[in-house]
Amino acid sequence: MYRDTPKPTRLEDYQPPEFLIDRAELRFDLDAVETLVSAALEIRRNPAAKRGDGSLRLDGEQLELLEIALDDRALPPVEYVVDERTLVVQRVPDRFQLRTRVRIHPAANTALEGLYISGDMLCTQCEAEGFRRMTYFLDRPDVMARFAVTLVADATRYPVLLSNGNPIDQETLPGGRHLARWEDPFPKPSYLFALVAGDLARIEDSFTTASGREVALHLYMEPRNRDKCGHAMRSLKAAMRWDEEHYGREYDLDLFMIVAVSHFNMGAMENKGLNVFNAKYVLASPETATDQDFAGIASVVAHEYFHNWTGNRITCRDWFQLSLKEGFTVFRDQEFSADQGGRDVQRIADVRALRARQFPEDAGPMAHPVRPSSYIEINNFYTTTVYEKGAELVRMQARLLGPERFRAATDLYFQRHDGQAVTTEDFVRCMEDASGLDLTQFRRWYEQAGTPVLECTADWEAGQGTYRLEVRQHTDPTPGQPEKSPRHMPLALGLIGTDGRELPVQLAGEPAPIGPGTRVLELREARQVFEFVGLSERPVPSLLRGFSAPVKLRFPYSDEELTRLMAADPDGVARWNAAQQLAERVLLAMVVTPDTPPPQAFIDAFAAALGDQEADPALLAEVLALPSESYLGDQMQAVDVDGIHRAREALMVQVATALRADLLERYHALHRFEPVTDQAAASTDREPDLSPAAMGRRALKNLCLGYLMRAPDDAVLALCQRQYATAATMTDRIAGLRGLIRLRDTDQAELAEQALTDFYQRWSQDALVLDKWFAIQAQASAPGTLGRVKQLLRHANFSIGNPNRVRSLIGAFAAGNPVCFHAADGGGYRLLAEQVARLDPLNPQLASRLLHPLTQWRRHDASRQALMRAELEGLRARDGISPDLFEVLGKCLD
Ligand code: PHE
Ligand code: ZN
Repeated sequence: MYRDTPKPTRLEDYQPPEFLIDRAELRFDLDAVETLVSAALEIRRNPAAKRGDGSLRLDGEQLELLEIALDDRALPPVEYVVDERTLVVQRVPDRFQLRTRVRIHPAANTALEGLYISGDMLCTQCEAEGFRRMTYFLDRPDVMARFAVTLVADATRYPVLLSNGNPIDQETLPGGRHLARWEDPFPKPSYLFALVAGDLARIEDSFTTASGREVALHLYMEPRNRDKCGHAMRSLKAAMRWDEEHYGREYDLDLFMIVAVSHFNMGAMENKGLNVFNAKYVLASPETATDQDFAGIASVVAHEYFHNWTGNRITCRDWFQLSLKEGFTVFRDQEFSADQGGRDVQRIADVRALRARQFPEDAGPMAHPVRPSSYIEINNFYTTTVYEKGAELVRMQARLLGPERFRAATDLYFQRHDGQAVTTEDFVRCMEDASGLDLTQFRRWYEQAGTPVLECTADWEAGQGTYRLEVRQHTDPTPGQPEKSPRHMPLALGLIGTDGRELPVQLAGEPAPIGPGTRVLELREARQVFEFVGLSERPVPSLLRGFSAPVKLRFPYSDEELTRLMAADPDGVARWNAAQQLAERVLLAMVVTPDTPPPQAFIDAFAAALGDQEADPALLAEVLALPSESYLGDQMQAVDVDGIHRAREALMVQVATALRADLLERYHALHRFEPVTDQAAASTDREPDLSPAAMGRRALKNLCLGYLMRAPDDAVLALCQRQYATAATMTDRIAGLRGLIRLRDTDQAELAEQALTDFYQRWSQDALVLDKWFAIQAQASAPGTLGRVKQLLRHANFSIGNPNRVRSLIGAFAAGNPVCFHAADGGGYRLLAEQVARLDPLNPQLASRLLHPLTQWRRHDASRQALMRAELEGLRARDGISPDLFEVLGKCLD
């Protein structure tokens, strides 16, 4: 454990490295219990750095140093000092070779950083600072070395031996062992190093780059999963093509590998030429994976592939620049998904996620800028702010520049910085240099935390046909940043007339526009007024189209105006947003006054959307989905968890009752498209359709089912049971199960239990599907859920050592079931604190992430605040908590 109080690292203290490593030759004698790592490092003094005290300071943690030699001279102990995290070699020459040999213990590595065991294989995770758990090194991203790697292992247990770059040779060794050599021609930071050893199956394909080079594509997995990799492979090829077409980026090695592992802290990792993936983002078949899972796989495969240019060829100077690679790469994967599956629906999903997770983070104790200025544990900064808000900053710049200039700017970025470790400032400079725009003020987005609020008002001068829109912006203080300055942002808008048609958007003093449609205005001031002229009627403004900036926008719409936008706005995102605002209004009123029936106008608007045969069903599924409980909570000063849940359920019942016939009709019309499974034979008459259109139909159909099951009569129940039992896709089966599980704690509870047992029996051998079985129970809002979660913690299939399983039970409960997690007696809080305490010594990175729902304690009523705080204090009082937890607890308690 850690004895000293962890100290923050600060951006302002950044110094270039005193030494550089040109080449690293590594040899791993692999064994699960005890692995020996030999390193030969070619080191030289960095001419660009200040001269220090002449000693070399390498990072290294949990290493047992066996040998050390400088230029082939074994070093006597007086010439070096080893402590818990460093190796200091005194008075080194300007250029030399350092050889070390250390012992490490993969089987004892529960943190899943460095070299560890996943199932029967050995694998590594180095980002951000895992490499130092395998050998002594300058483990920082601005030190880029050429790596040559030798892997030696038992030939039967570990027949496949992989590392970055190109395979050089293989040898059989005495004693049943074998060896493989790999070389990566591209210099890279240590966080992009990887190795994998195991008895793995492989599927192969190939890709011809735009310039005609042939790239071999290898996907590795446990042999029993070999038939579940087709979608990942297709997604990879689509991503490779897309990056050529949209950014002019080709792949640069002859081989690209992906390995699916069952134990992984995050989604996936972009190691050079050897991506390592959480199996969840590789394996899929229609029977085992939902449409959402399929979309998640395509986006993560693309994300990691895109990192080859935005992250690997051009990397981060230091970890404060994390959003340089993550924000840009998320933007790129979002755009890829938009091109693949539908732009509006993709944008809506991204905005939903931003509002559900990033806005609360930005308004709470963990708020930090996209480019933070200080951290204790960098693992705590892989946040939705760095990733998703970071992507919004790139998106805004792309919009301010326009497509041509943005492309010129990214071309410049790739050309100017290839092979370098750079900063977000370097990125913005390229945007400016290629476009001539001045982004001085825009840079505040990287430095200031907090979500700006835009307060908009308007007035209409009928006589002149003039519509005046006033926009004020402000941002509330965040920890350490009491004062905020106005930000530069694009505000996309349109004007809608009474008949639902778009009106021309012409600013005073401008010539008449070519036609109606979206205009992008630029905000810079705390208060700005825009005067639109030449209008024949008072328009309804359609504001923040495409969600053009990550802000909270307020405008005093009447219900009638929102209804108009909800029915007619040609911008899908704005249409969805109008529906959300209308529903939010109804719901928040119901929180204050339970039993208020929804206004008829709301039901009518809802019915109209449900019956809209023109619109994309995927878009309608978004328009008709009520805002989530956590989003609604975020709109209240003090979150009324129970009131929100009650109101949301009540509104769903009212919709289900009022529109039963419409919902059923739409359900049946959409369900007809699905293949039918013969339950006994478990075979379908057709292959399930996985096109975006089919996924959209299933989304809308299952939305209908979700409403119907809020007020289930016998007919609806039978329909839900039939869907569950005969589903050809996991999407439909899980939707059926979700409906049936609502019957828990009713007098038809046995239907829920039967379905759960059936599901378990079908899928108990498939870890990823079993994760769903755990999660769906943890998320059930029935009052008995806390007790069931406690039972499931003791279930034979629960394992604290598998992050996916931990997230599917503990994470799903704490972050995905507000009403049970926040039970008034504090039982939910206690459960989370206990599990975090249990997990912290094993896997601090995961423990610290799971804790997040408790960190929002200030948003709740006094009694819950006291209970939540007590659990947080209890954790802080424990001996030897990790720096990860120490940092989060400090931020949310002090
Ligand atoms: N760099 C990975 C990604 O976003 C995320 C990651 C971070 C994975 C740290 C593992 C550890 O693509
Ligand atoms: Zn990433």
